Amino acid sequence: MEKLLDGTKFTLGVCYYPEHWPETMWETDLARMLESGIEVIRVAEFAWSLTEPEEGRFTFCFFDRFLDLCQEKGMKVIFGTPTAAPPAWLTKKYPEVLNAHPDGKRLEHGGRRHYNYNSPVYREKTALIVEKLAEHFGGHPAIIGWQIDNELNCEMDEFYSEADHCAFRIFLQDKYRTLEELNRAWGTVFWNQTYTDWEEIILPKRTRSGNPNPHALLDYARFISKSARDFALLQSSILRKYVKKNDFITTNGRFDHLDNHELTKESLDFYTYDSYPDMSYNTDGGRQPSGLRDRESSQSLSEVRSVSPVFGIMEQQSGPNGWTTCMMAPAPKPGQMTLWTMQSIAHGADFVSYFRWRTCTFGTEMYWHGILDYSGRENRRIAELRDIRQKLNLIQEAAGGRYRAEAAVVKDYDNCWDLRIDMWHRDLEAVSQPAIFAAAQKLHTPLDYVYLSEEGTSMPLSSYKVLIYAHPCIMTETRAAVLKEYVAEGGILILGCRSGYKDLDGHCVMQDLPGLLHPLSGADIPEFTRTCPGDSPVRIRWGEKSFEAPVFNDILQPLTEDEEPAETLGIYENCYYAGKGALLCHRYGKGMVYSLGTVFTEELAAAFLEETNVAEPERETLELPESCELSIREKNGSKYYFVLNYSGNPVTVGVKSPLFSLFDSVPVGREMVLEPFGTAVLKKG
Ligand code: GLA
Repeated sequence: MEKLLDGTKFTLGVCYYPEHWPETMWETDLARMLESGIEVIRVAEFAWSLTEPEEGRFTFCFFDRFLDLCQEKGMKVIFGTPTAAPPAWLTKKYPEVLNAHPDGKRLEHGGRRHYNYNSPVYREKTALIVEKLAEHFGGHPAIIGWQIDNELNCEMDEFYSEADHCAFRIFLQDKYRTLEELNRAWGTVFWNQTYTDWEEIILPKRTRSGNPNPHALLDYARFISKSARDFALLQSSILRKYVKKNDFITTNGRFDHLDNHELTKESLDFYTYDSYPDMSYNTDGGRQPSGLRDRESSQSLSEVRSVSPVFGIMEQQSGPNGWTTCMMAPAPKPGQMTLWTMQSIAHGADFVSYFRWRTCTFGTEMYWHGILDYSGRENRRIAELRDIRQKLNLIQEAAGGRYRAEAAVVKDYDNCWDLRIDMWHRDLEAVSQPAIFAAAQKLHTPLDYVYLSEEGTSMPLSSYKVLIYAHPCIMTETRAAVLKEYVAEGGILILGCRSGYKDLDGHCVMQDLPGLLHPLSGADIPEFTRTCPGDSPVRIRWGEKSFEAPVFNDILQPLTEDEEPAETLGIYENCYYAGKGALLCHRYGKGMVYSLGTVFTEELAAAFLEETNVAEPERETLELPESCELSIREKNGSKYYFVLNYSGNPVTVGVKSPLFSLFDSVPVGREMVLEPFGTAVLKKG
């Protein structure tokens, strides 16, 4: 097999646990997978005790036998390092490797992810097992790649072990050098928190009752991210010594308190994501106001694309899901397994591996069903898998294609972490992010996510006509300069309320707001307020339309000293600031900046996409019902339109220019009917 993600093909895989089944089943399982279109399996990510059953005694025979069989059958393998679940002998002998609750009480053995990244013993034991596994299996011909750990920061993204307290002090010493500088950055003069010795510093706890220092919490988030990255780097630098030339290193998942972009740059060849679209609505009781349900997963997939433009799915939902302790999702309805696979592919995945082959008959995940149920009998899902393989054979030419979007949402980790700490900030993003995404979805407007940092951007900003930076509360000189350049060169930037009021330490700035964005936005904010839930909703008049302006209102006015002052496009309709500016538009260089005084509701976000002419970029080609998502991947001058119907009813799609249906190998007529949960890949050019 050629390299995975080499841009020539879509590959299917499955997660397999040879240790869960009698060895006598392996051969028929592998043969059946291959016959169903599975070419790659991921194994071993929780199997530490199988290779180091007691401290320092390594045994490889189990996976030797399994990998040799894979090689004989022609199955390719992604081998996981087992560090997400340390063995009982290890946690018993070295309890300091365990993570702790905020009160210092240690976690116990019996689940997974109960370790901490910073324990010197755990790092030593990790380095040893990874070295032994890589040394022994690295050259095995069945292996094509390695997965580090499993879902870093999943289930547990807070750390309070003694080792973490110590490592935090070192992290802070590296960052601040002197206590004076730390005291300044954390504003410790407030409430007499001043530190006089590094040893006085402990990890801040996120409990409301403690009212922790917000600046310390921001550093705590950065510290956790750095700890997870260093833990991955420890493993990847060992793996690199042993892996074969074309083999890759990846890790799976996308969790909080982790800078996935830096993690990938430092340690991975590409990123893989675990996609469980059904969980996004079943676990929260379907409360998303947008009503997007499983389609909401496209937002996560779009964020993954900002890390790796072409990526893999290590775990794709294939069955009804649930643990014995939580979560309950129904079986995918006929067509939904295909729909979710195509959702991943439409967003940039060229490798999709299902979770899991056969449902485990024991353990916490015995209701987390895979393709097959417990008995392994033929079922609807394996039939659908075979059909998916047939479909992918028909669209191979689209593999490697780059997702095409004219609009992007800008994000950065400092603000992402700040909003977990600061409820004033959180309440803004909680409305704006889902609303922007939902508006783009319903207007069939492909959307990217771009991450901004002090080092640069995850994609060149100039690739986009329009950028929405919803609430960049934290702003820096460097980032403001990047935005200025983008706009000066002709880009359109849309900013929401509360932009630019904090610095990188999370302090509020003393400049007039929006702080460092003052000259660029051409806006001045002499006054602002949170809206009051009991009052009648504040509204904005923008042209002919009136919009709700919830959560927060910046009262905007054009900067008077500006040569070309901003234009007031929208005003508040009520409250004591009725008639004052709610939306400004400012020409800057060849581009334009819009400043909105409130959050982005779905209606406002849709209005901005229309106003800036990026809404429905393919309206001359396709007429799509609201239930359909449109994604476009481009390759060698051709466009591949992925049309995905998330509704359980058939829908009709209008086709206005010549397109070729790859699934049917025929040109499409003026209309095309998509079945319930149906998908189509249409080629232009
Ligand atoms: C995650 C993990 C898997 C498994 C599945 C299902 O994505 O990576 O090990 O636990 O969820 O729960």
